[in-house]
Amino acid sequence: MTDLSWCEVDVEALAHNVRTLKSLLPPGALLAPAVKADAYGHGLVLAARAFLEGGADWLCVNALFEAEALRAAQVEAPIYVMGFVPPEDVERALELDCRLLAYRGDVVERAEAVCARRGWTARLHLKLETGNERQGLRDRDALELARRIHDSPHLRLEGVASHYANIEDTTDHTYAREQLRRFDAFLETLARAGIEVPLPHFSNSAAVILWSDEHRRLARVGIAAYGMWPSSETLVAAVLAGRKRIELRPALTWKTRIAQIKDVPKGAFVGYGCSYQTTAPSRLAVLPIGYYDGYDRGLSNLAYALVRGQRAPVRGRVCMNMTMIDVTDVPGLDIRDEVVLLGRSGDAALTAEQLASWIGSINYEVTTRIGAHVPRRPVRRPPSPADPRAPTLPR
Ligand SMILES: Cc1ncc(COP(=O)(O)O)c(C=O)c1O
Repeated sequence: MTDLSWCEVDVEALAHNVRTLKSLLPPGALLAPAVKADAYGHGLVLAARAFLEGGADWLCVNALFEAEALRAAQVEAPIYVMGFVPPEDVERALELDCRLLAYRGDVVERAEAVCARRGWTARLHLKLETGNERQGLRDRDALELARRIHDSPHLRLEGVASHYANIEDTTDHTYAREQLRRFDAFLETLARAGIEVPLPHFSNSAAVILWSDEHRRLARVGIAAYGMWPSSETLVAAVLAGRKRIELRPALTWKTRIAQIKDVPKGAFVGYGCSYQTTAPSRLAVLPIGYYDGYDRGLSNLAYALVRGQRAPVRGRVCMNMTMIDVTDVPGLDIRDEVVLLGRSGDAALTAEQLASWIGSINYEVTTRIGAHVPRRPVRRPPSPADPRAPTLPR
């Protein structure tokens, strides 16, 4: 069957990004790209393989089903599960040789019982709450759980982790620094209690890009590994701080095809709600994609797609399975032409950041929301020069 839309994922760009990020870490530090959310929409197994090819050491997933998929694809790299694993799934997680997050007594208890029965040692990473109020324990409870893990012959406290709440949304990193201070203070508390933790880790993409005086024995990088900046604030802060200039290469191109080309008269209404009326005789292309595929309805009458390197504005509302674009000014248009919804076409580029700005969201959401039914195809492309017209973050 022919795909109505598909994503081409440049595996060379993914490997390049991993090499670039690893060059920011001290020698011997572990780079652990986050491949959760179908590798930020890039395709879990495909991206994992590309990252490992580029020198990634570990992989971070959110949930156990992602670890299952990686192991089923013979990916043998260490896997760290950053999200919630219910107690009843702990045994399976350990069978899959996963590192688990520890912040719930019942999960730790289950890990201990399983390991005692099967003669294993579970590697656990304590999640410290430093100011995000997501998963994690405050100091006193964290210390208690750390002691319990440390004292068990079946458990190993391999890491202590925390996560920034306010690092990419601002150029003022006072809050993030305070989180880091709390983290350091807790590590000292652990040391005083005689508990050695080989891998404290806190860094995400923004921290790796911005700081060198951070915990870097393991870095959990997501967005930057996919070639996208965490935010424009991160870029500005990196420039202001005189950080080494890095080139991140976006890896994902989302393409579709044309279902129909139609010439419509001046004054024709396009799509549901008659939200667009042509002001001149126009040529429209009907695309077989819509919000079901992850092409956000908020892009209605705002976005453009790229055809033959030209911008073709979205006309009318994005439907569930169809979207209309104006191709009046695309010379030589052919019904077999590919249409780029995200990525490059000829010399033109349309970024996840641009799509995000139209829908009031962030690049993370744009790529992760592309439907799971849209196939991801690995490609290898030579690096392309920046499009000076692209309204995007510098690369
Ligand atoms: C716990 C944790 N660590 C690391 C990351 C990676 O963050 P980023 O994509 O900003 O690098 C995420 C992503 O949300 C996360 O939830």
